[in-house]
Amino acid sequence: MTEERNIRVVAVLGTVRPGSYTSKALALVADEFGKYEDVTLEVVDPAELELPLPGRGASEDAERLREKVSNATGLVLSTPEYHGGYSATIKLVIENLGFPSALSGKPVALLGVAAGQIGAIKSLESLRSVCSHVGAIVLPGPVSVARVREAFEEDGTVTDEVVEKRVRGVATNLLDYIERHICPAITLEAMVREDAA
Ligand SMILES: Cc1cc2nc3c(=O)[nH]c(=O)nc-3n(C[C@H](O)[C@H](O)[C@H](O)COP(=O)(O)O)c2cc1C
Repeated sequence: MTEERNIRVVAVLGTVRPGSYTSKALALVADEFGKYEDVTLEVVDPAELELPLPGRGASEDAERLREKVSNATGLVLSTPEYHGGYSATIKLVIENLGFPSALSGKPVALLGVAAGQIGAIKSLESLRSVCSHVGAIVLPGPVSVARVREAFEEDGTVTDEVVEKRVRGVATNLLDYIERHICPAITLEAMVREDAA
């Protein structure tokens, strides 16, 4: 990747639980993005936002979030597994991204964590379905962390290097996709614009 490129990634935390394992896993993804000088990462923490339930009008935070997502080159959506599905928090974020959704056409990498041994498979599958429904390009290879309370220490240190590699892979997977499929389109568009000017 060349340094002139400005890849804007928005990573959404799918929980408002203080000290959540989802945030520990997402912090690892953020650390991986931090290795790339041409990547600007913004982590969205819904606990800091006023996001209304659908049908309860709009909020300035929701509008700003929509704009942020519209301007993103790609996204990471994260969720804990709650009751065999993704969190209400991540759904609330999606509900606040408009209809049609600001996620439409955006490459999205998914990350799920669960206390249980089957991991976050169910939440990731249903999250994939919702994201595809709103037009996002959901990348293959969502990452599910099973037994997450064993995989991370309380301070966020990851205890298992296989887990670490897979979680960091959320970032590289998204960047690889952007590099291969989005950057050429941006360059082409700029060339066409220059020709037309
Ligand atoms: C309401 C609720 C429902 C949960 N349901 C499941 C579940 O269905 N399967 C599972 O493996 N873990 C379940 N868990 C445990 C979470 O996966 C666990 O808390 C994990 O740490 C991820 O959540 P966190 O990001 O909030 O820490 C549930 C936790 C809560 C609070």
